[in-house]
Parts: sequence; C-alpha cells; structure tokens
Amino acid sequence: MSFRAILSMRRHKIEFELSIYDSLEELPTEERHLMNMAVDARGKAYAPYSQFNVGAALLLDTGEIIKGNNQENASYPSGLCAERVAIFSAGANHPNAIVKAIAITAASEKIKVASPVAPCGNCRQSIKEYEVKQGSPIKLLLMGERGEVYKCESVADILPLGFDSSYLG
Ligand code: THU
Repeated sequence: MSFRAILSMRRHKIEFELSIYDSLEELPTEERHLMNMAVDARGKAYAPYSQFNVGAALLLDTGEIIKGNNQENASYPSGLCAERVAIFSAGANHPNAIVKAIAITAASEKIKVASPVAPCGNCRQSIKEYEVKQGSPIKLLLMGERGEVYKCESVADILPLGFDSSYLG
C-alpha cells in the first residue's frame, strides 16, 4: 500500500442497539401479543424436512396482524422462510398498510432453540425492501422457543451496507 493510500484511508464503525428482555412476560402488552401470534404461527409451520418450525407475525398500522410460517418442499430450495411468507402476504393483501413490527420465533423438534433466532440474509433483504418502500422502520422482536427476547428498532440495523432501490436510480 502506498503512503498516499494510507493517508486517505478512513475507518467507520457501524453499531446498533439491541434491547434484551429476559422473557416474553417482560414485553409491553402489544409486543407480547404479537410474539404470541408468532408462536401460534410457529405451531402451524410446514417443516417436515428440517423439523425446525418458524413463526412470524407482522403488526400493521391498521392494527391487523399478518401471520406466516416456513413452508418447506421436497425440492428443498423451493421452500420459503416464515418471515417472507408473512411479509409477502402483507405486501400482496395490504399494499398500502405500514408494517410496524415483526415478531419471529423458532422451535425445533430435534434440539432446544434456547436463544433468539434472527432472520436469514434473504429475509433481512426482503423485510428491508418494505422499510424503504414505506419510509419508516420495521421493529424486530426475536425469540427462540421461549426465554429471552431481542428487540431491534429497524431491520436496516441488522443489514448494514444493504442494497436497496436507491442504487437503481
Ligand atoms: N427458516 C425460516 O423460516 N426463517 C429464517 O430466517 C431462517 C430459516 C426456515 C427455513 C427452513 O424451513 C428451516 O427454517 C431450516 O432452515
């Protein structure tokens, strides 16, 4: 590296804040209800191959709750994660509603999911699309089977340097 390159190099740290609740019972009522709806959705997941059941529940500004769960397929890549089932359902059926929050929970039939499960990269990207579209953050509530709940104020927080429509001009 040349001397000139060293002089012009800058460092930039990206941080985000996570709120951690010891249990579901500690959450404010509306968020606790949303997580309970995600638990309900989790129980209806179609995951015969992984036996890893994921539930998602979205809260719209209309007060309506949209649920989704993972839908697997014998042709594995054809399946879809719970978060995208839920957010695409909201996008398809409530195109003008604002998504305020999404609660996500997972439980396995094989192992104990003891800590909060975070959305995969594809789901982060998909949820972020709607944040950009609506121009306001979507809060994330994350839980394992039970126990600790993580709260993030925006999906953009967990997708730093993400790609969005602003790049497309
Ligand atoms: N899964 C989700 O539903 N959401 C995620 O964010 C990660 C993974 C599902 C996909 C698959 O059905 C199972 O969990 C195991 O990967």
